[in-house]
Amino acid sequence: STSKRVSDLLKRMTVEEKVGQTAQPAVVNIQGECEWSGGELNQACMKHVLADQHVGSILSGGGETPPQNKPSAWAEMVNTIQKYSIDNNRLHIPILYGVDAVHGHNNVLGATKFPHQTGVGATWDPAVSEAMGQSTAKAVKATGPNWDFAPVQDVARDTRWGRYYETYSEDPHLSGAMGSAFVKGMQQSRQVAATVKHFAAYSAPLNGHDRTASQLDLRYLQDTFFPSYKAAVDAGAQTVMVNSGAINGIPAHASKYLLTDVLRRQWGFKGVVISDWNDVQSLQTAYKIAGTYADAAGIAMNAGVDVAMLPPDTVDGYIDGMLAQVKSGKVSRSRLDDAVARVLTLKFQLGLFEHPYVDPSKADAAVLGADKDLAVKAATESMTLLKNDGNALPLSTGLGKVVVAGPAGDSVPWQDGGWTIGWQGIPDNVTDPGVTIYQGVKKLLGDGKVELAKTADEAVDKTKDADAAIVAVGEKPGAEGVNDSEAPELSADQQDLVERLQATGKKVIVVVVASRPLVLGKAADAKQLVMAWLPGSEAGTAVADVLFGRANPSGRLPVSWPKTIGDQPMFYQQLPGTNSGPSSSYDPLFPFGYGLSYTTFGVRGLSLGSSSVSSHGTVKVTVQVSNTGGRDGDMVVPVYASQPVSRILAPARRLATFTRVSLKAGETRSVTVSFPMSNLAVTPGDINGAGTPVAQPGAYQISAGDKTADLTVR
Ligand code: IFM
Repeated sequence: STSKRVSDLLKRMTVEEKVGQTAQPAVVNIQGECEWSGGELNQACMKHVLADQHVGSILSGGGETPPQNKPSAWAEMVNTIQKYSIDNNRLHIPILYGVDAVHGHNNVLGATKFPHQTGVGATWDPAVSEAMGQSTAKAVKATGPNWDFAPVQDVARDTRWGRYYETYSEDPHLSGAMGSAFVKGMQQSRQVAATVKHFAAYSAPLNGHDRTASQLDLRYLQDTFFPSYKAAVDAGAQTVMVNSGAINGIPAHASKYLLTDVLRRQWGFKGVVISDWNDVQSLQTAYKIAGTYADAAGIAMNAGVDVAMLPPDTVDGYIDGMLAQVKSGKVSRSRLDDAVARVLTLKFQLGLFEHPYVDPSKADAAVLGADKDLAVKAATESMTLLKNDGNALPLSTGLGKVVVAGPAGDSVPWQDGGWTIGWQGIPDNVTDPGVTIYQGVKKLLGDGKVELAKTADEAVDKTKDADAAIVAVGEKPGAEGVNDSEAPELSADQQDLVERLQATGKKVIVVVVASRPLVLGKAADAKQLVMAWLPGSEAGTAVADVLFGRANPSGRLPVSWPKTIGDQPMFYQQLPGTNSGPSSSYDPLFPFGYGLSYTTFGVRGLSLGSSSVSSHGTVKVTVQVSNTGGRDGDMVVPVYASQPVSRILAPARRLATFTRVSLKAGETRSVTVSFPMSNLAVTPGDINGAGTPVAQPGAYQISAGDKTADLTVR
């Protein structure tokens, strides 16, 4: 059995070999003392890290790729490192190799890029998320790596935060459902481990800046943040990555409460906990809770971090420090064994002892352009129609002349966003394939009818004698460290462009390609408005299909859309207050769950399986859903719960469960969904909350559409 094989290895390993298994340095194209790049892998460096330091895993973080960034080159590189490791460690233990494949295998040139997570959240379609997980695992494995640092289970809070788009939703349940589906898909073949990140509450920095402190009471932490991570852990995620920030004065990497008491003891997590980049040393250098690197290593390990993700020039410091901690007894031998056992178990579970290598000759075919249909489907389902005054959409495919304008109109880098080839997005000197909006519209309408406008003046001139203008606005790509914003709004020149185009009196369709719901300013006056999120390489096909009616838009906002940049943090589960002024209420530009369609839907006859349930029971909800319009379409049916009276403040409504239904024009169907009352659990106790969350007894109203039913919770 695996546990026997693990304990057999542990018995034979030296303490140095064990410590090595807890280190994960970066390689390839990283500037540091031990740079592995430059064509051939640097033999001296491999010897130092793999043979002498016994390192058990490696990562290529965002934008670190082999010099020849092709699937086969990846496969050869990972095989070479794997072979070196197996041949040069006494017990022939294979390495784990981690990558950030967060929207498809996004580091690889020519790999299909899926929408980023907020767009996936907008689909409200766990099946599409599962398929994306499966496809990503296939591509990742074909190129060698066996560990993927995805999905992000942080819940969206604040659009100033530069990693907002990496979350699925502001809602814990929607986020949990999408992430757990992704985990199942990714781990289905048992060849690639998923990572639930960044545990916990990484998305809630007080000042909106990445990797900075959060202050949250226990109730907020347990009821709003934990459920999303827990859903993905319960789905079997094999690894968890830790929040780089501090919560209530304790860096998450030093929090025994989070990493041991909650994750391992309460939730029974048996997998590997990995630090985020350099975050073990940060306990010394940034947080200053440790005087030395050695102490930092000990604190992290004792809190529950099993593997430290390391910049290459910090490996020796970590290894020496951890060895000293173990030898002095500050880290017990049993804690070290526990961490190493988790790492070795993962290696056995992934089949690496039996099959450590991949076949480079199969990599290109498995990755290049793979699963484009799935990328189109995901992007299409994510398109969220926010305004359609006078039903000007869908546009007719018979139009004579259409102008495509705006900085996102013909830009693969903008539609792919951060974490694509480069860490901060596709670098200027790199071309990665993708269908832009301009290309997608041209493909659909045929050559000669579509004109691209590169400047604002050109756009206005060309629109004057056009039938319609599609103006794609948004943000340049960015990722952690860079994408934070003091003013997450559409730039003034883009607002002006929209305004000037509208002044032509022609049909103007505004498509937002952005990492967050940007404050739109003047562009909020658009008559036709579509949120495309960061749709990925197949963006153009999806946008064209939706604008010209080949697909009926079905995305629904997984996050609230702020009106002003002061609206932070912005989420629909606001608690009531006594201020009767406009600022006290939830007043977004578009609310959570919003989204239009080219058809109309209705909900009738809501009934509950039982009108009374225990706090630990399950509620069955049946509704008749109808497509009351003239086109086939997908309807997202969210089921909300509210409490007319609640001793602990309750938001006006909370998502209890949801489903997505495809309905032919005129079709009515009976749909039944169930949810456990634990989806509505609340931490009891007074001012800070205390104890285990549980659904409060009392009266509830369960609603879908405008129908409600009463429920009593015992
Ligand atoms: O996985 C990422 C994480 O999300 C942010 N910091 C770096 C890691 C590895 O690239």
